Parts: sequence; C-alpha cells; structure tokens
Amino acid sequence: MDWLNALILFCLIAGNTTIWVAYVNRTHSLPLSCGILHRLRRLHDIMIIVVPLLLIVLLGLTGPKLLLGGSWSDVSTIWWVAICLCGFGFLGLLVAISRHWFQPPPTQLVSISSKTIDVAHELGHLPVKEGKYERLARLSMNHQFTVELNEKTFQLAALPNELDGLTILHISDWHFMGTIDKEFFEYVAELLSANSVDLVCFSGDLIDSMDCVEWIPDTLGKLSGKYGNYFILGNHDWYQQPEDIRNALHNIGWIDVSSRTLNISLNEITLQLGGDETPWMGSQPEFDSDADFRLLLCHTPDNFKDAQRAGVHLMLAGHNHGGQVQLPIIGPVYSPSKYGTRYASGIFWSEPTLMHVSRGLSGRHPFRFRCLPEVTRITLRAEQP
Ligand SMILES: [Fe+2]
Repeated sequence: MDWLNALILFCLIAGNTTIWVAYVNRTHSLPLSCGILHRLRRLHDIMIIVVPLLLIVLLGLTGPKLLLGGSWSDVSTIWWVAICLCGFGFLGLLVAISRHWFQPPPTQLVSISSKTIDVAHELGHLPVKEGKYERLARLSMNHQFTVELNEKTFQLAALPNELDGLTILHISDWHFMGTIDKEFFEYVAELLSANSVDLVCFSGDLIDSMDCVEWIPDTLGKLSGKYGNYFILGNHDWYQQPEDIRNALHNIGWIDVSSRTLNISLNEITLQLGGDETPWMGSQPEFDSDADFRLLLCHTPDNFKDAQRAGVHLMLAGHNHGGQVQLPIIGPVYSPSKYGTRYASGIFWSEPTLMHVSRGLSGRHPFRFRCLPEVTRITLRAEQP
C-alpha cells in the first residue's frame, strides 16, 4: 500500500463530497417544490458514492494503481480534470473549516450566557410519536431534546438611547410535524413564558403537517411580548397551506409582518419592524430611511446584503438550523443556503446590519448532533445610554 497516495485519494474524495454538498446547499436555497428538490438531491446521493468508488478502483487498484505504488504520470488527461475539480473542492472544505473555527464573533456581541435543558429528562420520557422519522428521533445520539436557552446582549451604535435595554425573544423553525410530540413544544413555550420580554419574534418554518396547526394555541399562544408578538413564515410553511397558518396565528393575537413594515412607538421612538419571506413568498419590505431603528424578520440569512442596502439595523433569521449536524473538526455540512455553511447559525455584522441566525428549535428531520436546538432572548444596548 502507498500511504501517501492513499492520503491524496482520501483528500480528493473529501473534495468531491464538498462539491456535491455545495450543490445540494445551493439548490435547496431556491424556491423549488419538495418533489424537484428530492430529485435534485438524488444526483448528490449517487455522486458521493460513485465517484469515490471510481477513484479507488480505476486509479487506486487498476490503471495507474496509485494505491499499489503506481505513478501519477500514468494518470490520463481526463482523470486530471476530475482530480483538479476534486482538489478545488478540498480547498473549499479547508476554507469552510477555518471560517467555522477562526472567524471571531462581531464586537457588537458584548455578552452571552447559555443554559441547557434536557426536555426528555424533565418530562421523564422521550416526546416522540409514531411518524415517518420516528427511528431517527429515537437514536440515542440525538441532541434534539437538549434545548439551549440563550441570553445575548448586542450593543448597537444605531440604537437610540430611548430603546436601551429593549428585549426581544427570537424563536425560529419549530417545524410542527407530529413525530416530535406537542408536549416538547409546550414545555419549551412554558419555560419561555416565565420571562418577560418586550417583543416576541418568530422567523418562520412553523408547520410541516397541517394536522399540527391546532397545536398553536397551546404552544406559541403561551408567549406574550409587552409590545406584541410578530411573525413571518418560511419555506416549509410555503410547502403547506400558508394562509391557514397565518389565520391560526392571527387567532392567537400574533401580528403578521410579511412583505410590509409597521411602526411601533416605544418611549416616543419609532421602531420600524418589517418581514421578508422571499424568495418563497411575497416581497421585501420597504423601510423608511427616517425610522429611528429598523428591525427585520427574514427567514433566510441569504438576504443579508438586501438588509444592508435597506439600512436594517438588526436582522433576525433562521432557516439553516445550524446545519443540524456539526461534525467534529469540520463543523456544519448541510445548510440550504447560496452561501453554504457561512450563515448556518450565529451572529454576523456588515455595516449597518447585525444579523442573528438562530439554529431554530426543531426540523423536518428530527435529529441533531452537536448542534443544540436554540431559543434566544436578546437585549439591545445603546452605545452611550
Ligand atoms: Fe426550517
């Protein structure tokens, strides 16, 4: 066995996987139906298995026999094209890994504290019902039921002094489908309702099965912001019946801010709140340039640049679930974004916008590994209160 060539082939296989994962991430950021996305994903499933087999068999064990001490000079031109592509893929993987580990949080994040709660332990059983993904939900290594309660403080130069101390509960991606039982969400909502906040904001993906719309009063219905509860919907709501979901949320007093802005008067200051469900539904909201503070709920973090152009000061997003699985060393892999895993979760700054991307609370596939479900209470601080 030629171990150096084995290592090079391993890196090429990793590069090939990176290319096809990038393909899946980009196509899943588009407003396509579940059926089309499923068909597009099949190509990825085939290529991440077939290409490594071809590399091992046709380059490693036969042909130039690289794994058996053969020479790279015997590799044909057509293979060199594939090798170069896989090499670029491997470089992309190294860039993604270094970004995951070494990109510092923006200076606007001045404090963060976290508490985790094992909801299954607190309930005394796994809150899982029969369903398509029941086995996945029951896997012992599943971190889906360990919820991280975060307190984050952001200091923003654009925040008027009158809004200093404003609190926002940012929740996202609850994905009611039925496999994870209603009691899980009821428990989390009960926990959240114990702390008062000024605004409650939900950034989309509530329903994956219309049978679960009736859960809304006993879950989100428990939450109450001093100045209101606001929502937008996400692509998974779009796959269902979004108008029925909006009506159910209206019925518990939540306010739909999709495709529009509304002004909230706080301490004689106008906070302008807008909602963006594009590219799946509606249009982007138009903010007033003279609003004192502009807050945007946007399902996908892909619209970060649009928010900057609109002069948004704080953008709350979800959609990518932190990747749901974060591998050791590598970090998140699958993230349905045109930026791949760059905005899988976390806090990002680009003048004049601070973006908070929640990992969300659940997912259509009820499995998480090293990527805890998240709810976040944000406190905003002015620079010189
Ligand atoms: Fe989602």
